[in-house]
Amino acid sequence: VFNVEMARIVDVGRMQELINGFASREEMLPRSLSEIYENIRDYFVVRDDDRVVGCGSLHVCWADMAEIKSMAVEEKRQGQGIGTALVASCITEAGRIGIDTVFCLTYKPDFFSRFGFKIVDKMELPRKVWTECYHCPKFPDCDEVAMVRRVENA
Ligand SMILES: CC(C)(COP(=O)(O)OP(=O)(O)OC[C@H]1O[C@@H](n2cnc3c(N)ncnc32)[C@H](O)[C@@H]1OP(=O)(O)O)[C@@H](O)C(=O)NCCC(=O)NCCS
Repeated sequence: VFNVEMARIVDVGRMQELINGFASREEMLPRSLSEIYENIRDYFVVRDDDRVVGCGSLHVCWADMAEIKSMAVEEKRQGQGIGTALVASCITEAGRIGIDTVFCLTYKPDFFSRFGFKIVDKMELPRKVWTECYHCPKFPDCDEVAMVRRVENA
């Protein structure tokens, strides 16, 4: 069982290193330091001693929608359940604040389908969720898969 905690300022450098390491292999989108600092309260981390070994974030878009973003687990710590613990924390947090649907845009649909996420047509997502997409070099030819999941107890 992993101890999932809210991220702290001191974690940001390591979180960016993890995220951008995978981003350089096109496994996820890169994040600038400013994006991470500004959204620091969205991020959950799992630490090994003081070192971040995994992170993930929940970003509220609207009354009924939040996005799970930037899931990254250090390569040699993958497959141990850290990603699962981070996704579970994001979903629990969504329910706690009263969000009834979470979604993700991902290159790893098989990972998210384990948690009950279902693939949807991106066009089904409200435009509000695209704010970040407008800045993406790939827009509008996004190759990520959109997935949604209802949140119980929202
Ligand atoms: C995807 C990622 C976050 C999963 O984290 P993790 O800590 O390895 O996940 P878990 O250990 O909780 O894995 C849970 C299960 O999902 C499976 N799984 C992990 N990654 C998977 C993938 N890409 N596709 C399908 N299944 C996957 C694991 O094998 C494990 O199965 P098991 O319980 O039968 O052994 C991690 O592999 C990662 O950081 N990848 C690189 C960055 C990335 O792709 N992020 C997601 C982009 S949106």
